[in-house]
Amino acid sequence: EAILMQVSIRVKRYDPELTENNSWWQDYKLGIHANATILDALIKIREEVDGGLALRCACRASICGSCGMRVNGRARLVCKTRLKEIIQKDGELNIEPLANHSVIRDLVVSFDSFFSKIKEITPYLTPKSEPDKGEFVASNESMENLLKSMNCIMCGVCVSDCTVLEVDKKFIGPAALAKAWRFVEDPRDDKKSQRINYLNDTEGGIWDCTRCLQCVEVCPKDVAPMDRIMEMRETAIRLGYKNTPGYRHSETFYRSVKKHGRLNETLLAINSAGWTNIPRLIDLIPIGFKALIKGKLPPIIPHKAEKKEAIKNIYVKVEKEDE
Ligand code: FES
Repeated sequence: EAILMQVSIRVKRYDPELTENNSWWQDYKLGIHANATILDALIKIREEVDGGLALRCACRASICGSCGMRVNGRARLVCKTRLKEIIQKDGELNIEPLANHSVIRDLVVSFDSFFSKIKEITPYLTPKSEPDKGEFVASNESMENLLKSMNCIMCGVCVSDCTVLEVDKKFIGPAALAKAWRFVEDPRDDKKSQRINYLNDTEGGIWDCTRCLQCVEVCPKDVAPMDRIMEMRETAIRLGYKNTPGYRHSETFYRSVKKHGRLNETLLAINSAGWTNIPRLIDLIPIGFKALIKGKLPPIIPHKAEKKEAIKNIYVKVEKEDE
């Protein structure tokens, strides 16, 4: 016999046809099986309580990627998330549409921007020529490696919780960059260098990730987009693409901490901009003034860390391991 539990769910509604007050929180109460997923509950609401509630779903088995939503502020596939777990953990259940997507109605968002970014990274193989006969042959290891990214079901969950996209709409974003990695790594592709060159140079490319780890945390398929982005940074450096603010930023960070045991933020800002890049350096002046007014201007000559020898030893150890 089904074990019923009573739940309260708050859903963020949006009706584009209303000229005012077109967005509001709506509370629903319902009895549902104790093992139900959040998607089961939303479907029940739509079928039995409020036929006007708009949501998107298909497979109900974490395969199609269409049921991404924010649950208590964090993006998830709602068909993969049990009601009971969230209520026991958070004590409440607030459902909103994915962030960093424009909302069409209620919990349904547009994927236009998502797919325009996927298109931007040339999401298909570009081999030198057709194989002489049959098909291209690739090793098992190389294909297994690609699975890391090919497991992506394009649900938009990582894009929703990306902290860079929240402030910079030009960022290509975790999903499209993980997809780009898949073609950079594919041994059958002939444009690895051009691909990396583009992702390295373009505004919103691989150097704009802030390594906040949110995409790794929320991805329901363990694609770990941030790790894929970091691998492409390493590939860019290996291929000799070093004349970028991103590369100079990491290099200065690395050397500064190694030498002083702490970061020289002034040098970091100037080196990242590039000493000969006058317009960029001029851009830094108002930022410097703002920092000064707020008492946040870093000291011109950085303090040295007390235990800088210990920090240097960490570098020696890691560099030795890398050899
Ligand atoms: Fe297909 Fe959730 S309904 S992934």
